[in-house]
Formats: sequence, structure tokens, C-alpha cells
Amino acid sequence: MSTHDTEHKHDGQPGVDVVLHAYDDIQEYDNALPNWWLVTFYGAILFAAFYWFGYHVFKSMDLPPAAFVREMEELKAKEAKTAVPVTPEALVALSKDKAALAKGQEVFTTTCAPCHNANASGNIGPNLTDEFWINGGKPEQIHKTISEGVGAKGMPAWGPSLGADRTQAVSAFVLSLRNTNVAGGKAPQGTKE
Ligand code: HEC
Repeated sequence: MSTHDTEHKHDGQPGVDVVLHAYDDIQEYDNALPNWWLVTFYGAILFAAFYWFGYHVFKSMDLPPAAFVREMEELKAKEAKTAVPVTPEALVALSKDKAALAKGQEVFTTTCAPCHNANASGNIGPNLTDEFWINGGKPEQIHKTISEGVGAKGMPAWGPSLGADRTQAVSAFVLSLRNTNVAGGKAPQGTKE
């Protein structure tokens, strides 16, 4: 506001500047904008400029959807590198590896227990501790069932959501349960192996 727009108001509040466009007896004070407000204001303008040039003009950064895709691919590549190749021998070896079993059990408790019971004795899904298998009880068959699921029968495919590493760990854990015949298990399903 330039100075000739203001006048001194003398009734009651001496020295307070008010803007000269009173209407219906309402008058505005002519205060300077607070610094915190100005900093936020100019900061937002600066941020907008950096954002626009960075993301849209020079494209020196990935927009969030592209960054998400890139990060997922990096993660997949990293998991593929650390995962042991899926051979029956590797799975059997994993089923004797304490760290892998602990990891597998953790996945089992959080992901599989609702349908197979916490001790794998069976619930909606079959008992995994007996000698009977619907889809085969060989290491590679168990890994395949867990990884790809049995869609029509209500067993989800876990490979995509768990990733290669944890799918193998939980497969190794299931392998370690074979023929342990926990008490009070669900009645056998499938063929004896
Ligand atoms: C939504 C319920 C559900 C969840 C969760 C679930 N399963 Fe299953 N699972 C089933 C059903 C139902 C079957 C039986 C499929 C069939 O009849 O072929 C099954 C079958 C299996 C089999 C094959 C058994 C056989 O006799 O061939 C294995 C192994 C198995 N599940 C492991 C797992 C593991 C490991 C997890 C966790 C990562 C898991 N399941 C989570 C429902 C589930």
C-alpha cells in the first residue's frame, strides 16, 4: 500500500494506520505481512520452480510412478541375485538350514496359519504334517504349489507377493514338517507318499 492510501485514525487508537476505503464502517489495518508468511510464500514459488524444471523440463528426477516401477525392478533384481536356485537339492538343504527355517516359520505364522493352522495341522487347507499330498509332496512340487497356488481350490499363489527368497524359505519350512504327524491334525487328503 502506498502512503497516500493511508491515513491516521485518531478516534481511540492513535498511530494505527488504516486503509482508506471504509465501507459500512469497516476499516482495514495496513499491516506489513509477517516474515514467516513471506518466507512460506516465496519458498513455495521457489519450490514450484525447482519441481517444474527438475521433473518436467530437464526430467532429472523420475516422477513418482516411474520411480516406483524402477525401485520394484531393482528390488526384484536384488532378490533374484540372493535367492538360491530352485532345485530339489537346494530346497532340501534349505530345510536343514536354521536361519532359512526361522524365516520360513515367520512367513508361515503370518501368512499361512489362517488356512493351515499355526502348527500346520490343517484347517481350510490340508494338513501339511502328514504323509498325504494332493499336489505332490516332493520338494519341487511343494515349492510349485506354494509359488503358483491352486487357484480353483482356494490355495493362493504366493510367489509374486512373497518374492523368490521368502517363497523358498517357507517351502523349506513346509518340507521340514513332512511326516511329523502333529496330534489332532485334519484327516488325510490326497495320496500317501
Ligand atoms: C486362503 C487359504 C490358504 C492360505 C492363506 C494358504 N493356503 Fe495353502 N492351501 C489352501 C488350500 C485350500 C489347499 C488345498 C489345495 C488343493 O486342494 O489342491 C492348500 C494347499 C497347500 C499345499 C499343498 C498340500 C497338498 O496336499 O498338496 C501346500 C504345500 C500349501 N498349501 C502351503 C501353503 C503355504 C506355505 C502358505 C503360506 C505361504 C499357504 N499354503 C497359505 C489354502 C490356503
